[in-house]
Amino acid sequence: MTSATPRPTAGPDRRTVIAAAGAAGLTVALAACGSGDGDSDAAGSGSAGDALAKTADIPEGGGKIFKDQGVVVTQPSAGTYKAFSAKCTHQGCAVGSVADGVIVCPCHNSHFSVADGSVKKGPATAPLPEQKISVSGDEIKLA
Ligand code: FES
Repeated sequence: MTSATPRPTAGPDRRTVIAAAGAAGLTVALAACGSGDGDSDAAGSGSAGDALAKTADIPEGGGKIFKDQGVVVTQPSAGTYKAFSAKCTHQGCAVGSVADGVIVCPCHNSHFSVADGSVKKGPATAPLPEQKISVSGDEIKLA
C-alpha cells in the first residue's frame, strides 16, 4: 500500500475546501435569516389556511379588498361568499372598491361582477380569476 504522491497543490486545495465549506455555512445561515424577512409573522403571508376575514366584515351585495393577500372577498347574496384576484385583468392595477354589485378598478374604470368576477364594463375583457376560500363558522379563510 503506497501513500498518495504528495502534490504541491495539496495545501492550497485543503485551504480552498475549508474556505468553501465556511462560505457554504455562511450562505446557509444567511438564507435562514432571509426567510423570516418582513415585519409581520407568517400569518400575514396570504398562504392557504390563513384567516382572511369574519363573515360580518363582508357586506351583502358588496365585498372587501384584502390588499396584502391580493384578494377581494364578496357576498353576492346573503350567506354566499366568493373571492377573486384583486389584480385587474386589464393592465394589472389593484382593484380599488366594491359597491353596487361590482368590483371597480380605479385605473381605467373596469367593473367586475361580485358574483362571478365577470366583466361588467371594460376596458378589461377577462374576468377576475376566482380564488378558493373556505368558510367555517364566521371565519373566511384562503383555501
Ligand atoms: S388596469 Fe384595471 S381598468 Fe385598466
